This record gives sequence, C-alpha cells and structure tokens, in this order.
Amino acid sequence: MSFPRTRLRRMRKDQFSRQLMQETVLLPKHLIYPVFLMPGEGSIKEAIATLPGVFRHTLDSLLQEAAEVCALGIPAIALFPVIPATQKSLSAIESYNAQGLVPCAIAALKAAYPILGVITDIALDPYTTHGQDGLLDAHGQVCNDKTLEVLVLQALCHARAGADMVAPSDMMDGRIGRIRDAFETAGLIHTRILAYSAKYASTLYGPFRDAVGSTACLGAADKKTYQMDPANVQEALREVAQDLEEGADAVMVKPGLPYLDVLYRVKSTFQAPTFAYQVSGEYAMLHLAAAQGIFNIDAAMYEAVLSMRRAGADAVFTYHAKALAAYIQR
Ligand code: PBG
Repeated sequence: MSFPRTRLRRMRKDQFSRQLMQETVLLPKHLIYPVFLMPGEGSIKEAIATLPGVFRHTLDSLLQEAAEVCALGIPAIALFPVIPATQKSLSAIESYNAQGLVPCAIAALKAAYPILGVITDIALDPYTTHGQDGLLDAHGQVCNDKTLEVLVLQALCHARAGADMVAPSDMMDGRIGRIRDAFETAGLIHTRILAYSAKYASTLYGPFRDAVGSTACLGAADKKTYQMDPANVQEALREVAQDLEEGADAVMVKPGLPYLDVLYRVKSTFQAPTFAYQVSGEYAMLHLAAAQGIFNIDAAMYEAVLSMRRAGADAVFTYHAKALAAYIQR
C-alpha cells in the first residue's frame, strides 16, 4: 500500500476515473424546496431583505414555483406561512383553521401537481403573538403538554387538507407519539411524519424569522427551553431514538453544515431516513460571500449540500434547491 506502487493520484487523473470512484451523489431527487407563503390575490412575490434571492409568495406565485420544481425533478416542497399580525393570538387558533393559508395551499398544490410531495411545518411560531413555537403558561414559559393538544389539531388539519408529510419542528416532548396516535384514530394511515428531532437553538435561524415575521414578536426571547444546546450530541441521539419509537417515518438534523457530526452519528446509529436542513443563516452566509465575488454561489452550495449527503443525509432542505437542481443537470 505504499508509494510508489500506490499512487492515489492515478485515479484522480481523468474525469472518467474520478467519476467511476465517486462515493456520494447529489441529484435533484435529494432536494426539498422550502417556500414562504403569504396571503394575497394574484401572482405576487416579495423580496426578503436578509435572504437574498428568496421570496414570500402568494398562492398563485407558489403554484408557478411548484411547476418549476416539478420540471427540475425536485420531489417535494415544504411550506412556511407568513401569518398577518391580526391572525396571531396567544392560543394560536389560526394554526388549525381548515380554511387557513396552509390548508388552502396544500389543496391547490395537490390538485395541480399530484406527484409533488407537500411537506408542512408543525409548530405554532407563525401563529403566536410572542413568536414562540408553543403556548405559554401563567409564568410565561412554553408549556409542553398544552402545546401538544394544539399541535395535534394543526397536524390533523394539514393531513385532512392533503399534506403528504407533516414535519413537527417545535421540539415539544411527546409530539410525535401524540400526532401518530391521532392519525391512526382518524384513519390517516398514509400521512408521513418527518420529525425535526435534533433541532438546535441556533443563531442561524435569524433570516427565517425575518421571512415569516416572527423576529419582532420574539424580541429578546430565545428558544433554549425546547431547542437543543449546540454543545450536545448524545442528547440528539436520545431525541432521535424517542421520535422513531413514537412513530416518526423520517428524522431531521438542523442546521446542516455546522452539525455534520450529528448527522453522521444519527444516520450510522439508526439507519432511518435522515434529512438535513441547510437553514436560512447558512444560505445567507454563502450568498453574501458570493455577492462579494469570494466564490461562485452554485459551486459553494453544491459542495455544502454534497457534504451533508456524504455525512448521511438522504435528502436536504435548501432554499437554493431550484438553482442547485439546474446546476447539477447542466
Ligand atoms: C419554526 C422554524 C424555524 C425554522 C424552521 N421552522 C425557526 C425557529 O425555530 O425559530 C428555521 C429554518 C431556517 O432558518 O431556515 N418552527
């Protein structure tokens, strides 16, 4: 195995042999496209200051995005609603309104593009006046068990509207089991659950909170009583074990690139379908650097998302999905 009988550069010499020994592939089918959905008539899209190249879409504009996503071979989109302040409340009652923004969009998407997988976010932060993912108790703490009841209603509402996969991103304990039981009872046996199992209390969600308008609601508060400490990885394995036990079909590690070790350990420990989320802050960092001419945006995104695949991700949520799919197929 030693030099010069072994020269590892030999296989790297030409593209054909580099291709033959490539260990990881990144294809459009490995991407999930997160989209921000806002109320409004007609096809309108609104720029987001902290997320260059990402927009808030009305339903008509979302349907155009869906057509492009299908044409590019991206299997699924994930919806994130922008809820007007007038519909936010302490009880998050709008989160399970069957005529609300998300259920209407699910129905329209499934009618127009039946093959496109529709994933919805299960969490209360777009719907609460305080921007927390759950309901508050009398002391202003996020109350786990009261929140579960509303999450179940929200998940049932989305599943009944036709969502293919619900994705609880709230980090309450026990939510996967409660949602799974409710689905079984309601006969919704085909609705998949993607658990955001290892979701960290990350600084990198800032632009997302601007996009959905929860930054101001949250103020100086944080989400550390339910999202995980970035210092921990053993705890991530316990979260994943519990969510799979409770009936999750797939699990998620979030954010992506700074947490490749977590991703690797989750995939190698459980061998379950494992997704990663290249979050808004990761996306913004690469975009802002590329805008300064520091590197090419598509090449940088490709490398980042490929690395998540190498570490164990079966699929990756990325705001760059459309451009990346086009880049891969070039
Ligand atoms: C809310 C939610 C967040 C993200 C996805 N769902 C933000 C948060 O937890 O505060 C972040 C996604 C991103 O930053 O791209 N439940």
